[in-house]
Amino acid sequence: MDEKTGIKRSRRSRSINTIWISVSIVLAGLYVIFGPLNYPKLGKDSALPNKGHAQSSFRLEHIYRHGIGTYPKMQVLEASSEVIESGKARFSELRTAQEGSDSAANDDIWTSSPHYATENPLDHKFKLSLEPQVLKRMLYRDPAFVESYLDYAHENPHMASKVNLDWIDETVLVPNISDKETVVSLALMSSNAYVKLPHTGDWRNVTGPWNHTENSGHGWDDDGIRGHIFVDDEKDIVVIAIKGTSAQGLTGSGEDETTVNDKINDNLLFSCCCARVSYLWTTVCDCYLKSYTCDETCLEKELRRKDRYYKAVLNIYREVVQRHPSSTIWVTGHSLGGALASLMGRTYGLPVVAFEAPGELLASRRLHLPMPPGYPNYLEGIWHFGNTADPIFMGTCNGASSSCSIGGYAMETSCHTGKQCVFDTVKEKGWHVSLLNHRIHKVIDGVLEAYEAPARCVPPGPCHDCFNWKYVKDSSSKTTSSKSQSSTTITRTTNTITSEPTNTSCVGRNWYGWCTEYGL
Ligand SMILES: *[C@@H]1O[C@H](CO)[C@@H](O)[C@H](O)[C@H]1NC(C)=O
Ligand SMILES: *[C@@H]1O[C@H](CO)[C@@H](O)[C@H](O)[C@H]1NC(C)=O
Ligand SMILES: *[C@@H]1O[C@H](CO)[C@@H](O)[C@H](O)[C@H]1NC(C)=O
Ligand SMILES: *[C@@H]1O[C@H](CO)[C@@H](O)[C@H](O)[C@H]1NC(C)=O
Repeated sequence: MDEKTGIKRSRRSRSINTIWISVSIVLAGLYVIFGPLNYPKLGKDSALPNKGHAQSSFRLEHIYRHGIGTYPKMQVLEASSEVIESGKARFSELRTAQEGSDSAANDDIWTSSPHYATENPLDHKFKLSLEPQVLKRMLYRDPAFVESYLDYAHENPHMASKVNLDWIDETVLVPNISDKETVVSLALMSSNAYVKLPHTGDWRNVTGPWNHTENSGHGWDDDGIRGHIFVDDEKDIVVIAIKGTSAQGLTGSGEDETTVNDKINDNLLFSCCCARVSYLWTTVCDCYLKSYTCDETCLEKELRRKDRYYKAVLNIYREVVQRHPSSTIWVTGHSLGGALASLMGRTYGLPVVAFEAPGELLASRRLHLPMPPGYPNYLEGIWHFGNTADPIFMGTCNGASSSCSIGGYAMETSCHTGKQCVFDTVKEKGWHVSLLNHRIHKVIDGVLEAYEAPARCVPPGPCHDCFNWKYVKDSSSKTTSSKSQSSTTITRTTNTITSEPTNTSCVGRNWYGWCTEYGL
């Protein structure tokens, strides 16, 4: 039976292979014909500054929101004068509401630095300084092509490694990350609290019709991600700022609006094996085999299937490229938003500045994101800003008694893509490691603004996530019915993990992956 399945499988993969090669030839052909029209290529040498300190000012242009889960639709809101105007009222409302509240100091929705004082964050002009840098990226970066490659690589990881992608060196304008104002401005763009403003306004449907019946009583903001699009007129650069985790009590980056999905996605992206931290946990997928052994193939499937956040950011990118076909695109974000920004950046070879993101290197491998062979990751245009007192950035927010575990988050990874720019707040400011130091506003006011200059960005040292786990490829021989009740506790240097007998297997799940029905 195994042999037959094997033959079937190899036949299937061969035919998929053939299809994919034909598809890629067609796509390459399409590229030759249409490419220059709709695909960002830096032929814009005129945009390169010839002397240092080129500055550009960015304004909010529009906002995307993308539902995930049952209603994966996308809508866009133009930042019309009306919408911008509504921002002013909402902002002063929020400020008044916060006065006198205990959390005011931590939850200020804008930086308290007078340099960035504004009456309306939606109307703020962000000043960023730029510099040219050579990046190695894929020659064909059309979203249709790249997404088809990713689908293929996901289905056939072995075949995919044999496909020769074309890589080229391109001079790209990137943010000048040694410039303090640039880094603070990007952090402000990433900051999502003020961005909750436009509930009103004409959200236009981008994908499919918007079903009010389906969504009534559900409230769009319950689920989904947002991308805020900033543009500059002079240099033709677009910044996509991706909204990060809203987890009450955990990151403090906003109200408790997208918590459930954020948690599922965090646990899928940043845990070693489906957030199987202990038997008390409802795992987010079902790939755990036995103690410290995980089914890698299953895991990758789950990540692609359920991680709608990654899919959603790709959709946003697609829309942005369509709208700004010849612009240079940058991505930024905080926390989960920063990790998604890096994943998007690695997918398309975009410059990324991420703040306090959890380790996303493992997720980028599991998603089979393309990298030029032999190219060290720190040469990518990805910069991770963080501080040593933030346990999520440092990857130390795990273990049974950590606030992450208590909050239901399995943040087990610590390795990042690109370069790391770390402020040593523990040593230099005497801060204690705490989730409070993960908050974007604490980071802006207490770190980015407080330090003389941005931290130097350096290649990360050797890093290996989940070293104590064993990953097994394609285990279809999963047994599910050992009935022993003993549970053992194994303590490692960083993780306390309780292993459980695989008593049950999940036979029914709701749309976001929680097990609702167990069987033997
Ligand atoms: C980047 O910013 C730093 C600090 O402001 C500045 O000294 C440097 O000249 C800038 N680089 C470019 C290429 O503008
Ligand atoms: C979006 O689609 C819904 C359902 O079809 C419709 O009622 C709504 O008016 C649309 N919104 C816009 C701005 O077109
Ligand atoms: C909207 O959703 C409801 C509930 O799922 C469904 O009954 C209805 O047919 C949908 N309407 C449209 C236009 O899709
Ligand atoms: C094992 O399965 C039974 C029946 O489904 C359930 O009642 C019991 O709690 C499970 N034990 C553990 C340790 O999960």
